[in-house]
Parts: sequence; structure tokens; C-alpha cells
Amino acid sequence: MTQNCNIILKLPFRKGLIEIKIMDKILVTGSAGQLGIELTQRLCEVYGPESVIASDINQGSASKFPYCPFIVLDVLDQSGLKKTIINEKVTQVYHLAAILSATAEKKPLLAWKLNMDSLLYLLELAKELKLDKIFWPSSIAVFGKESPKENTLQNAVQTPNTIYGISKMAGERWCDYYYHHHQVDARSIRYPGLIGYKAMPGGGTTDYAVDIFHKALRNEPFQSFLKKDTRLPMMYIPDAIKAALDLMQAPAENISVRSSYNLAAMNFTPQEIFLEIKKFFPDFSINYVPDYRQEIATNWPQTIDDRPARNDWNWQPDYDLPRMTEEILKNLPFWLDKK
Ligand SMILES: NC(=O)c1ccc[n+]([C@@H]2O[C@H](COP(=O)([O-])OP(=O)(O)OC[C@H]3O[C@@H](n4cnc5c(N)ncnc54)[C@H](O)[C@@H]3O)[C@@H](O)[C@H]2O)c1
Repeated sequence: MTQNCNIILKLPFRKGLIEIKIMDKILVTGSAGQLGIELTQRLCEVYGPESVIASDINQGSASKFPYCPFIVLDVLDQSGLKKTIINEKVTQVYHLAAILSATAEKKPLLAWKLNMDSLLYLLELAKELKLDKIFWPSSIAVFGKESPKENTLQNAVQTPNTIYGISKMAGERWCDYYYHHHQVDARSIRYPGLIGYKAMPGGGTTDYAVDIFHKALRNEPFQSFLKKDTRLPMMYIPDAIKAALDLMQAPAENISVRSSYNLAAMNFTPQEIFLEIKKFFPDFSINYVPDYRQEIATNWPQTIDDRPARNDWNWQPDYDLPRMTEEILKNLPFWLDKK
């Protein structure tokens, strides 16, 4: 269960006690992205909007955050990042800015720079400024060709063959290193493909599973860039957010994995999600034209073993494919109307 985490300290003062409220101040980077839009809103609900700062490099994103302060922040601007953390008295950072798997294959050097340098800047700042906690998402992309495809274990062999996966694997090692050498409390989850309806995805290999809902609602046929039987682990964004907050609010002594936790919710193929949507749109049609993303997907796990997350901080997903499909198809039209 998530809860408001602002801490009340009761300290002895003269002959009584005084209460000092230690406010968490949370900076979200890359908050205008697919995960950030929804995570930032949830953080505002839990901690209060005065305790959250949304940020993104994209200047046009301010209008997406009517409920909390928004600043333009490039995470590669090390001194800008430091100034923001100091001036705003930031205690926690949710570091979401990244280049995702499919885009990273097109811009490998930029992806390596953004995904790696920004994390290292932040870990250094966390050490220097003694930040309370950092949340940094990793991905199932840390696994690769030689990794087992079914029920892939937390410590299964990692042989990522994408720049994105290599950057996430290295990032995990850096998080583990900073925890053990500098006591930086960085926490991380290996997300599967994330599916939501409040933002379009930003260039991942699982983006098809968002786009397919838009095509169904517009009565258009859907062209899948993955083969019909390509099974991948997936997660509905409300579950991804619940996991992030539960992990961040878990007592530090419960966190046994300091690299990044395996996390699972559902898994399906393009054909299975198509058939689920077709229950609501009987005329919906699909064809399959695999492209370069097929090779990325083929090397990823199909199902994930997430027992450490379940044992350490009681992880349990709320959504399977039918429940997610029904909820998205119910809400997406209203969401599109509002925009
Ligand atoms: N979406 C998924 O399926 C998925 C799966 C596994 C892990 N993740 C991870 O979750 C995190 C968030 O993913 P997402 O889907 O929201 O990504 P996204 O691409 O939708 O959003 C990324 C955001 O980062 C911003 N950004 C890019 N460069 C920046 C910079 N230099 N400074 C500041 N902001 C910058 C972009 O403008 C964008 O708003 C990433 O670390 C990603 O690797 C996502």
C-alpha cells in the first residue's frame, strides 16, 4: 500500500517535545514521457503537489502539468541538475529521462550518452548532496540472446545485444556499486513493456501494444511490426506506478536487490491482444509486417520470474490482459476527447 511519506519527527525541546516535519521533495526527470505523465500525477496525489517538481527537456510539456510545478531541465546539464536539486531542496529523484530500445538502435551514441551520463551525474549528486533515495527504471532489455526465455530468473545470464539493454545493464551495476561503496539508496525495477492510454509511447519495442488500441477505436486495420506469436512480458502503467511507489516506500532493510528487481504482470503475443480487443470490435483486423524491432523482441524473455520483488516488498500486479483491455477501451475515448 502506498502512503503519504512525509515524516513527522518528535524531538525533545526544553521540557516538552517539538514536531519537525521533514518534507520529501521529489524531482521527476523525463516527466512528460509515457511513464512520467502518470507517475508524476500519482506522486502529487500521494505526497502533495507542493512536494513534487515535474521536469523534462521538452519545453512544450508545461501544459501537461497543471497540478504541480514544471521546469525545463536537460538531465545532461550537470550543473543545472545540481542547482535544481540544491535550490529546490530535493530529497528524492525519480529519474525517467532516457532513450528507449527502438530509438536507441537508430541513435546509439546519443542513447548511450543520455542513458549513462545522466544516471552517473545523479548518483554522484546523490552521494555528494546525500539525497534520500533515487528511483531509476531498468528494463527486461538487460536480458539477451543467451538468456533463458521462460520464467527468466532475477540472476539469469545477461547478454543484451541492444544499446538500450547494454546501457540498462551497466546502469544496474552502477546503482549496485553506489549503494555498496557510497551508501546511495538507489532503487530500481526491470520493467517489461509498459502500456497506458494517457501518453503515446516514446520509441520502444513494445509500442505496438499501445498503438493497437488507437487503431481499434478509429476503426482502422492494425499493422503489427512484430510477428503474431512474439510473446513478451507486459505491464499496465497503473501497476508500474504501484510498483515504483511500493519499492520506494519499502524499508531499506527489505531491499535485497540493489541492481534492479525483475517484475512481471502479464505476457501476451500480438495475436492475443488483437483477439482480446476484437471481442469489443468484431470487425477489427490485423496484419503482420515484422521490421527491425522483431529481432530485438526475439532476444528478450517471454515470461519473467519476479519472486524477489514479491518476497521483499510484497509485489502483486492488479491487471491481466482482459482487465487492462476493458479499462483502456472504456477510458481512451474520453481521454482523446479531452485533448
Ligand atoms: N515504456 C516502456 O515500455 C518502458 C519499459 C522498460 C523501462 N522503461 C524505462 O522507463 C523510463 C521512462 O520511460 P518512458 O516510456 O516514459 O519514456 P518516454 O520516451 O516516453 O519518455 C522519456 C522522456 O524523457 C525526456 N527526455 C529525453 N531526453 C531528455 C533530457 N536530455 N533531459 C530531460 N528529459 C529528457 C523526453 O522528452 C520524454 O518526455 C525510461 O528509463 C525507460 O527506459 C520504459
